[in-house]
Amino acid sequence: ESYDMGGHDTYMHKEIHEQADAVDRALRGRIDDRFSTVHLGGLNLDARDARAVRRVKILGCGTSYHAGQIGAQMIEELARIPADAEPASEFRYRNPVVDPDTLYIAVSQSGETYDVLAAVQELKRKGARVLGLVNVVGSAIARETDGGIYVHAGPEVCVVSTKCFTNMVVSFGLLALHLGRTRDLSVADGKRIIAGLRKLPEQIAEILANEEEIEKLAGEYADAKSMMFIGRVRGYPVAREASLKLKEVSYIHAEAYPASELKHGPLALIEPAMPTVAIVPDDDLLEKNRAALEEIKARSGRILAVAHQVQEKADHTIVVPKNEDELDPILMGIPLQLLAYYTAKAMGRDIDKPRNLAKSVTVE
Ligand code: AGP
Repeated sequence: ESYDMGGHDTYMHKEIHEQADAVDRALRGRIDDRFSTVHLGGLNLDARDARAVRRVKILGCGTSYHAGQIGAQMIEELARIPADAEPASEFRYRNPVVDPDTLYIAVSQSGETYDVLAAVQELKRKGARVLGLVNVVGSAIARETDGGIYVHAGPEVCVVSTKCFTNMVVSFGLLALHLGRTRDLSVADGKRIIAGLRKLPEQIAEILANEEEIEKLAGEYADAKSMMFIGRVRGYPVAREASLKLKEVSYIHAEAYPASELKHGPLALIEPAMPTVAIVPDDDLLEKNRAALEEIKARSGRILAVAHQVQEKADHTIVVPKNEDELDPILMGIPLQLLAYYTAKAMGRDIDKPRNLAKSVTVE
């Protein structure tokens, strides 16, 4: 991939459309069908080390933090290791307990974000093992960490991250599979996840082929002053990332909440002028998510669902292809990148360089 705009009006549009190829690149040469696992050359973590990990802590900022939240869930689900993600900027200021049995993972597109780098340096000083999940080869975070995974998204120019987020989540899927296969993830489950990963590039292309429909929907919602994004468990970090995308590029205020938290407060905001974007995967929480849609409809809220099947209570549904439950978050945010892009375009925003933001934040 090059810095050439290649016929697209913005880098954001170009980078959204590069995602099928980018994911293909992240998978290439890494899948090991013989043992239903993956090879991650630079990880620097042998099977014995991997089995000794008692906890995983993921650190990143902004979109990379959201990718880390999905990654933590994947690691818990596939490797059954307790895992969580935290903004690196918070972690480094709270004098955290650094535990020798915890595997720390720093996530960054640029590999230069100061808060992440400072967290890595503090962890290293205290003797922790820190891996990097980074896009830019040879960047500061890649150099400071003990090993890691390059996400191979290719150059990302737009300040608003899209393809790198997707490749980060795919890379977490690879790491979760690898850790899982050194522990209790069965051969059959390993095969199932590999088959799911292999389907991703084609499924991404399918979502992007639906672009016209999403452009029309953006026209319907561009009048909103504020939008709510909801999801549950796997869908919640997807909702958070989609909400960040919309606010960065369109400057529309957006809030993300776990759907389960609506009744604890945010339901008070629901009215026709406050549309909700709901992430509704076909998984074991489908009925719970549908109940949330009913709650919103009962308060005359407009609903745009991203789902695997049309949602009766929603005003509009963007149907995305189903993958394995654990990998669904990789796909469900992609139409919402397009929604953010077309909303910003309709509003005449400076899409590649939103006001007040820089591509990489190398200062405190
Ligand atoms: C993403 O759209 C943002 N512009 C921003 O949140 C970004 O993800 C964050 O600053 C972290 O950057 P990094 O991945 O280069 O560390």
